[in-house]
Amino acid sequence: MSRTPLVAGNWKMYKTVAEAERYIQALLPRVASLEGVEIAVCTPFTALQAMVDSTRGTRVGVYAQNMHEAAEGAFTGEVSAPMLVELDVAGVVLGHSERRQLFGEADRAVAQKVLVALQAGLRPILCVGETEEERLAGDTERKLRHQVQEGLEHVPQERLSEVAIAYEPIWAIGTGRVATPEQAQEAASFVRALVGALHKGLDEQVKVLYGGSVNPGNAAELLALADVDGALVGGASLDAESFAAIATAARDGAG
Ligand code: 13P
Repeated sequence: MSRTPLVAGNWKMYKTVAEAERYIQALLPRVASLEGVEIAVCTPFTALQAMVDSTRGTRVGVYAQNMHEAAEGAFTGEVSAPMLVELDVAGVVLGHSERRQLFGEADRAVAQKVLVALQAGLRPILCVGETEEERLAGDTERKLRHQVQEGLEHVPQERLSEVAIAYEPIWAIGTGRVATPEQAQEAASFVRALVGALHKGLDEQVKVLYGGSVNPGNAAELLALADVDGALVGGASLDAESFAAIATAARDGAG
């Protein structure tokens, strides 16, 4: 079956509201006629409201980059699913390796967040991926199996296909060292098979994205891979023209 590709720009901690407004006005005309690809910008919390307002009625969805698993509570500095839903945010990136590595986010919390996001009507992008050490030690599949199984642990079987899974090898993030097409395809197909093992048939529906040094020069090759249904783009998503070029490559590589 054909899966509609998703190209999501993870801005990380970049762009003030004023910068985000300038960016989105540059992006919208460039993607206005792009059929057959879902496009999302994952913005800092502070820019969410402005971006939701500026993209209403367009083909660009707005995602958050994280959320807390509780609906409310004494969690200084955190934001909950109901708070995102109130803003009309479409989805949320969960378990990004920067959250896991720099902010000590545990597998158990990520698993809870995936369930809570779905229950709230937010579309989760669950991030998984190995370190360079793990790859060199032949531990890539073990790591992916652990992160996918744990991340999806609480998701009811019939909702598994609503979670997009982003394979982001940590050694490729922000390094310019993109995975080879063989590496990306092998890992994406392995992730898909893991979903199939949880619920037969859903592997054909679930979106598996690749992330890590995607840019307009390498996107076409990656996005044409059989098991890669889109990209989670960091640095190259910060420029509207290069992000639009990647989204165009996804449209062209689909099917
Ligand atoms: P880069 O595209 O900058 O390597 O970042 C990838 C990423 O972490 C997206 O979530």
